[in-house]
Parts: sequence; C-alpha cells; structure tokens
Amino acid sequence: MTVDQIREHLEPIRHEFAQERSLILPALKFAQGEKGWLNRDDLAAVAEATNLTPAYVESVASFYDRIYTDPTGKRVVSICVTLSCMLRGSDELMDALCAREGIAGGGHGGTSADGEIMIQEAQCLGACDRAPCVQVDSEAPVGPITVEEAATLLDDLRAQPAPSPIRR
Ligand code: FES
Repeated sequence: MTVDQIREHLEPIRHEFAQERSLILPALKFAQGEKGWLNRDDLAAVAEATNLTPAYVESVASFYDRIYTDPTGKRVVSICVTLSCMLRGSDELMDALCAREGIAGGGHGGTSADGEIMIQEAQCLGACDRAPCVQVDSEAPVGPITVEEAATLLDDLRAQPAPSPIRR
C-alpha cells in the first residue's frame, strides 16, 4: 500500500475526525485491506500519510487485536476468552480447535499449516448470552457453539472462497 493510496482514502473522511491523529485507525484498516496484514513498509506508509511517527503507528497497530502485523490465515476465527465464555468452555474450545488444526502450542491460537485458518483469542464479542461464542472475520458472533459444531464451521470455511481481506 502506498502513501498516496492511503491519503486518497483518507481525504473524503478527514472532516469526520476532530483530531488529525484519529485518522490512524481508518488508515491502518484501509492499508490492511490489501493483503490482510501490515508489513513494516505498510506501517511506514500509514505514518507518512497521517503525519504520525512510525513508532506511534506501530504501537497502535500492536494494541488492536484486529490489526495484524504478521501474515494471517485466509479466514480469521476469533474465540472469545472473556469470563462468560471462559466459564462455558472457551478454553476447551480453543485447545480442541488448535489441536485439530495442528497449531503448535495451542492455547493461544495460531495459523493452520495450510494457511487457511487462523485462530485467535478475542475479548468479549458482545454475545455473552450465547457463550461460548466465536466470530469468523468480522461476521456476527456465533454461539453457543460446541467443539463439534466449531469443527464443522472450520470445514465449511475451507469449502468457501476466501473473502477480500478488507472484511477482517
Ligand atoms: S464473554 Fe464472550 S461474548 Fe461476552
């Protein structure tokens, strides 16, 4: 992603933000849409386009769990690990799905060997009454979901064409 592309994207929405620095999130999200994650050149381009320092841009990018600074799988599956979901089995769900996908270490997620599925922890997805729940990319959370149902969900995702990375 180039500096000019990011500036072009930001120009029509600039007036919606009281402070110039608030443009950083739409800039990061837009730049990420190209390939689904941001490398160092992308982060530098965002810094230049928003007149912020590269260090500040990197700190913001690393704070948000939906901004990726490493390659992701084609689909991102977020498992809520906050209290309601934890009490209803999100740890077991995470362990089972990581083991199924051959993700070394399990427990905290990672990407399957075929690069199709990335599993990550997420904080409350706003569907506590349906715990435990998962979210695919930025779709609505699904729950309550069993290990077996989640395994079927992963099979279904593999059978579908991957959406544009901008949807994450
Ligand atoms: S605690 Fe999992 S959705 Fe709220």
